[in-house]
Amino acid sequence: MENLSVAIVGGTGNLGGALALRLGAPGVRIIIGSRDAEKAKKAVETLKPTLRAGEMVGMTNQDSIRGADYVVIAVPYEGHAQMVQDIKGQVAGKIIIDTVVPLNKGKPFVPPAGSALQEAQQILGDEAPVVGALHNISAVDLADVDSPLGDVLVCGDKSDAKEKVMEIIRRIGARAFDGGPGSNAYVIEGLTGVIISLNRKYKSKHGSIRIVGIGEEPGH
Ligand SMILES: NC(=O)c1ccc[n+]([C@@H]2O[C@H](COP(=O)([O-])OP(=O)(O)OC[C@H]3O[C@@H](n4cnc5c(N)ncnc54)[C@H](OP(=O)(O)O)[C@@H]3O)[C@@H](O)[C@H]2O)c1
Repeated sequence: MENLSVAIVGGTGNLGGALALRLGAPGVRIIIGSRDAEKAKKAVETLKPTLRAGEMVGMTNQDSIRGADYVVIAVPYEGHAQMVQDIKGQVAGKIIIDTVVPLNKGKPFVPPAGSALQEAQQILGDEAPVVGALHNISAVDLADVDSPLGDVLVCGDKSDAKEKVMEIIRRIGARAFDGGPGSNAYVIEGLTGVIISLNRKYKSKHGSIRIVGIGEEPGH
């Protein structure tokens, strides 16, 4: 993981910052992206005292993706399609990890493409594989790098890209399962709406999912 470079577009937000801390712990190089380079640098200053290991820098979204092996999309759904359009043409050879859940005032909906993942893949075409992951994990749990995580369903149409993403997920402390093709993404994305309802109902910030009945350590 020490040689791995991950750009997080929208990395100044809740999920991006929390994921940066998790990925940093096993030594990943993190590039925090923002629409505003100064905001990215400030986010890095805030995160660095909590960063256990690894290296972290901040810059514009456009600059962040340049040296990265993986690009995590961590913006609200409203900015999703535009963000993917903005990175198109610069992500050949990289793997896109899409965490975005289409939500309207906390309620999930199915976008015209079928899911956020399919929207991104339609925009990028064959340029880069889009892998959906981390939708059902809370930023609060990710940020506390020693806290246990729920299971992560990873979906997408390229098996080799999914395997690589699942390996990263395992290294940050979660069990990762192959959740099937990109056409499954709307279910996994939408499940976050259920988890939001559960968190509200039961006054929690830690709702997540657990897969049972198909082995303790898939892929191992
Ligand atoms: N929070 C969670 O626990 C969680 C868990 C699973 C999945 N997710 C998903 O992860 C994504 C990010 O969630 P979040 O809670 O981190 O969101 P957030 O804090 O509201 O936003 C993340 C960042 O996105 C950028 N941004 C905001 N609006 C934008 C727009 N219209 N266009 C481009 N960039 C924009 C902002 O960065 P700059 O102003 O610096 O550009 C912001 O700091 C969402 O799609 C969410 O569904 C979140």
